[in-house]
Amino acid sequence: MKKNLILGLLISAFFGSSFVIAADAEKAIKYRRGVFNVMGWNFGSMAAMVKGKIPFDANVFARNAEIVAFMSQLPLEGFVEGSDEGDTKARPEIWLNMEDFEAKMKKMQKEVSALAEISKKGNFDASKSQLKEVGATCKGCHDDYRNK
Ligand code: HEC
Repeated sequence: MKKNLILGLLISAFFGSSFVIAADAEKAIKYRRGVFNVMGWNFGSMAAMVKGKIPFDANVFARNAEIVAFMSQLPLEGFVEGSDEGDTKARPEIWLNMEDFEAKMKKMQKEVSALAEISKKGNFDASKSQLKEVGATCKGCHDDYRNK
């Protein structure tokens, strides 16, 4: 009787915790995707200016860069263990090469904060050339760690 009770508790503890883990993974995926979407929105605005699709507005550009710089600090914590499965394009290789993944994240953060600084001066050419550097760091990680 007592044994069954203990077994019952163990089983519910086990299923209880694995449920929590799955729910946490789902939240983590939503979180990082939300962050990336905000980054993508603001990056897209800057890219459109650089390509001449919309007029260059130095204030808007600087604001976009500021937002991307802030948001770039956030996605890493969303890559929790076990969140390689679910509604995600993240490749499982991320968790096998976490050091490299983190290094790529840091590189992006560095280039993005440089962009935020540079764009404050409002110079189109300087902002354009630094946006290119930033774009290369986004692509560098997506090529290796994001599914199409
Ligand atoms: C260190 C790796 C890394 C860097 C650097 C990186 N990304 Fe990503 N990005 C990812 C991964 C992984 C995903 C897939 C996330 C998922 O589906 O869970 C992603 C997804 C996205 C998405 C799609 C979000 C969605 O769910 O629809 C956008 C937009 C995006 N990134 C924009 C950017 C931009 C802009 C930059 C550069 C400023 C950037 N990323 C830099 C790894 C990175």
